[in-house]
Amino acid sequence: MRFDVLTLFPEMFPGYLGQSLLKLAIERGLVEVRLHNIRDWAEGKHNTVDDRPFGGGPGMVLMVEPVIKCIEAVRAETESPGHLVMLTPTGRRLSQAVIEELSTKQRIVLLCGRYEGFDERIRLLTQPDEISIGDFVLNGGEVAAMVMIDAVIRLVPGVLGDEESNKQDSFSGEDRLLEFPQYTRPREFRGLAVPDVLLSGNHQEIARWRRRQSEEKTHNRIESRRRGGAED
Ligand code: 6GU
Repeated sequence: MRFDVLTLFPEMFPGYLGQSLLKLAIERGLVEVRLHNIRDWAEGKHNTVDDRPFGGGPGMVLMVEPVIKCIEAVRAETESPGHLVMLTPTGRRLSQAVIEELSTKQRIVLLCGRYEGFDERIRLLTQPDEISIGDFVLNGGEVAAMVMIDAVIRLVPGVLGDEESNKQDSFSGEDRLLEFPQYTRPREFRGLAVPDVLLSGNHQEIARWRRRQSEEKTHNRIESRRRGGAED
């Protein structure tokens, strides 16, 4: 699977790309991440990529020409133009279901915004899949792009090693339950003991306990949100 990231800040990515799971996936040739600096497609000696908004107002707007040129050049690099994602707080909300949908793509082109946003004509001309990672505002789409890459690659065959482990993740599986609690050594810490059932060796009992815990946790989360916690 190939990701192309279009950004004004490519230097934000190498630290993240060098982390263990992703680094291994890249080394094994399962995942490829290419970084492209939108500024490389800007004209003039100052390589201007942003300008003040028509009609006034604070901040700067990403200009249509360098962004469109960058998108077109990068998409033309391979036979398939790829699935174009625009990272914007006004997009559809990212969820595990969206991640599953994206994980079926061979190639994803991620367009990261900065400043006050994109010139609207970028959206009109390219009709991207607009995605937001939540109802809050980031300084740019870069961190959101890393979030998306991180979640998508977990679903690429071979990346996790243990192919079962992502099926047990929270929000995965047909009922999208939260993950059950896990324990490892020691058996007791500061008076808190590992539940007996996990030490019983009875796999049917363990599976039943875990299922019940997942259901309870999911139910409690839904209830707490209904009472005025974070919006669902
Ligand atoms: Cl994708 N971009 C920005 N700038 N802010 C966000 C976001 C994306 N998702 C949530 N907030």
